[in-house]
Amino acid sequence: MFDRQAHQQRIAWYREARFGMFIHWGLYAIPARGEWVRSEERMPEEEYDRFFHEFTAQDFDPRAWARLARQAGMKYAVLTAKHHDGFCLFDSQYTDFKSTNTPFGRDAVREFLDAFRAEGLRVGLYYSLLDWKHPDYPHQTDTHHPLRGQTDASDDGRDFGRYLDYMHGQIRELCENYGKIDIFWFDFSYDRMSGDTWHAAEIERMVHALQPQAILDNRLEASGSGFGSLVTENPTSYCGDFVSPEQIIPPEGIQDCAGRDVMWEACVTMNNHWGYCAADRYFKPASMLVRKLVECVSKNGNLLLNVGPDARGRIPEESERILQRIGAWMDKNGESIYGCGRADVPKPDYGRVTQRGSTRYYHIFDAPIGFVPLMKGSARHLRARWLQSGAEVNVKSNWMTENYPEYVFASLGENPVLPDDIDTVIRVETV
Ligand code: GLC
Repeated sequence: MFDRQAHQQRIAWYREARFGMFIHWGLYAIPARGEWVRSEERMPEEEYDRFFHEFTAQDFDPRAWARLARQAGMKYAVLTAKHHDGFCLFDSQYTDFKSTNTPFGRDAVREFLDAFRAEGLRVGLYYSLLDWKHPDYPHQTDTHHPLRGQTDASDDGRDFGRYLDYMHGQIRELCENYGKIDIFWFDFSYDRMSGDTWHAAEIERMVHALQPQAILDNRLEASGSGFGSLVTENPTSYCGDFVSPEQIIPPEGIQDCAGRDVMWEACVTMNNHWGYCAADRYFKPASMLVRKLVECVSKNGNLLLNVGPDARGRIPEESERILQRIGAWMDKNGESIYGCGRADVPKPDYGRVTQRGSTRYYHIFDAPIGFVPLMKGSARHLRARWLQSGAEVNVKSNWMTENYPEYVFASLGENPVLPDDIDTVIRVETV
């Protein structure tokens, strides 16, 4: 049974945080063709295992990752503890296919958690329900396995129950051995591999018995497609605490069957890959990502923005520069993001509006011609200020606006160039 009250309590900090870092890192950083490389290239196990023996990650510095995330204005971070390839970045007693057995020799999960907590961020772990390494996970009959369709990879003799014991055992290890975990980001359900197949109810019970504050995503029963039962009138116990749209921002946010806003988090890559991909230089500009963060918040959602560190453990320079530029904007305007959500006024042509309580934040992407229309109604109790400087913005009308008396206008002055070329924010308080 889904406990709505406990859910609302769990997600309070998360709704306030709005902005997090996703980190996809593992052996796949060595072939450097994304985290699905073994499946996409149908790579045999022994070919992929070569990367295990050369995983040195000599530049791994989770504190540098954490500083970059904090300075970007991110309030939480999620690291892949185990991805679909089955490689564990933590010292699991259930497998030898783990970072502590590579030349790198370290428990990257523990160091990630310590570093990000030290920088004041909340921490989450991504854990793949799929496992292309485990002998009892379906091979030949699976739609994603690297050996799918191969007659020499028959599923005869594979004991899925034994895999579930392994999977549940590792989730227990992550719950018991690494301190307080704020988010468990499971990934992903597909075809018949969903819900009861994973014994998802047991997973949820175990996680919340050991980590009662932890919030879960919806992928014990969904994936990037499908919302799962969180939006229905009878959510399962393992529906999770947020819907996880992937590489898309929902046109109107996400509502449940009763029209109530549901917690959601858009997970987005900076280029087009989650895991490091050397050839993929198509990075989204900081200006675009700031505006997408504003868009998520204006629709009552979060943005989980991904970085894919390389085989040495370094976040790509492009990602660093983008995060530093986002951080410069967040330094001055974070107040219009944190704890904000959907506004009670329509989206304006020139940008978006976020709101917290009775304070609205007008995000002006495109400079207006003449005065800027804020909302319909009376200007009597409104006080407008440039958010970055605190300077007064004149809320007034004149002969140019008198044809539109139902609107409240603000004058942005004579300069047609806005103070911030990404997003100039005006704070409008009701006083
Ligand atoms: C998809 C991909 C996976 C990635 C996840 C991030 O599930 O399969 O590689 O980690 O999206 O949301």
